[in-house]
Parts: sequence; C-alpha cells; structure tokens
Amino acid sequence: MARVPIFASKFILLLLLSSFATVLVSGDQDHEFVRRLDRKLLGLKKEKLSHFKLYWHDILTGPNPSAIQVVPPPSNTSRTAFGLVRMIDNPLTLGPEMSSKMVGRAQGFYAQASQQDIGLLMAMNFAFIEGKYNGSTITVLGKNSVLSTVREMPVIGGSGLFRFARGYVQARTQKFDITTGDATVEYNVYVFHY
Ligand SMILES: *[C@@H]1O[C@H](CO)[C@@H](O)[C@H](O)[C@H]1NC(C)=O
Ligand SMILES: *[C@@H]1O[C@H](CO)[C@@H](O)[C@H](O)[C@H]1NC(C)=O
Repeated sequence: MARVPIFASKFILLLLLSSFATVLVSGDQDHEFVRRLDRKLLGLKKEKLSHFKLYWHDILTGPNPSAIQVVPPPSNTSRTAFGLVRMIDNPLTLGPEMSSKMVGRAQGFYAQASQQDIGLLMAMNFAFIEGKYNGSTITVLGKNSVLSTVREMPVIGGSGLFRFARGYVQARTQKFDITTGDATVEYNVYVFHY
C-alpha cells in the first residue's frame, strides 16, 4: 500500500472539510432573500386537529339576499347554467336555524363549472367573528356537486389562528327551498392548524 506523505493527507482532509462547509452554508447563502426559521420564532407549538360544525345559509331572495348573481349563464342553451357566478356573504350559524347564533360569514363566490351536472367551483373564506377566532379565516376551494348527499372540499389555508391550515370540509344540504332557491347547508370542517 502506497504511503501518502503526512502533509499531503492533512491537505486532503482540509480540502474535504472546506468543501463540506461550503455545501452546508451554500443552501442558505445562495439567496439573500430566504432563510431557515425555527418554528418557535413564529410561536408555532404543536399542530392541532379541530372539528367545527356550522350551518351555511345561501339566501337568494327576500329583502337581504346573501348570494347575488354577478355573472349570468352566458348561454341560454346550457341545461346546467354553466358559467353562472354568484358572490356570497353567507351567514355561518351554530344551529340550522337562521335565528341561531352567527359565528362568522362565508365570503367569496361560487361558479357553475360543470356542463354535465350541477358542479360548483366554491372559493370562499370562512371569516369568524366569535371569541378567540374573531378575525381568523379558513379558506375553502373545491368542487361542490350539490346534488350529492355529502360533498368534500379541501381547506387550502387560513389566517390568524388558522395559519398553515390544511384539511377538508364535508357539506350536507339540510334544507332547500325549490321555489326560492334558498338553502341551508351543514358544514363539518376538519382542519389541522397550530
Ligand atoms: C337564446 O339566445 C339567443 C341568442 O341571444 C336568442 O336569439 C334566443 O331567443 C334565446 N332563447 C331563449 C329561449 O331565451
Ligand atoms: C371582533 O373584532 C372586531 C375588530 O377587531 C371588533 O370590532 C368586534 O367587536 C369583535 N367581535 C367580537 C364578537 O368579539
């Protein structure tokens, strides 16, 4: 076995160490605009799983509608009203009755995105006004096949107490008035958050 002179082996070791050091820091130093953070610095402790049960009221008629059509279906030949968009500011209450305590509002819009059936694209923030949740929001974005018994939609994020939120909701129609189009939908929200 060939003997490597002692000074040469020291040099190689030095070379190896310095290249490792370069690799270790370069990840953070390549870009001045990004750095690793300890999650404790943002006050993030343990991730929790919460379940909220709320009732969502879509009121199309009467003196104070909460859902207003902003785009009519562009074609009058579409059986599914494809293209229709309604902006919503729907009450979220604790019980199925409108008179029960309101804990937030579902703000956003839904659009009829299916040409074959009733399949809405829902894009809405659940903006809470109750207790410690006041001012915090949960963002729901998904497909709502309103004629199905249970519709699942993703929770894609949130703000305030729901920073880094992810999860899903399950929507079940509780009441639908065929003449007015008004609907009450039970929403079960399952969400991971800190
Ligand atoms: C549908 O739209 C076309 C073109 O705008 C119009 O000529 C026709 O009368 C409409 N049909 C109905 C049933 O409203
Ligand atoms: C929620 O927060 C808003 C704005 O900070 C405040 O005006 C309101 O009184 C709060 N509501 C409740 C129920 O705490």
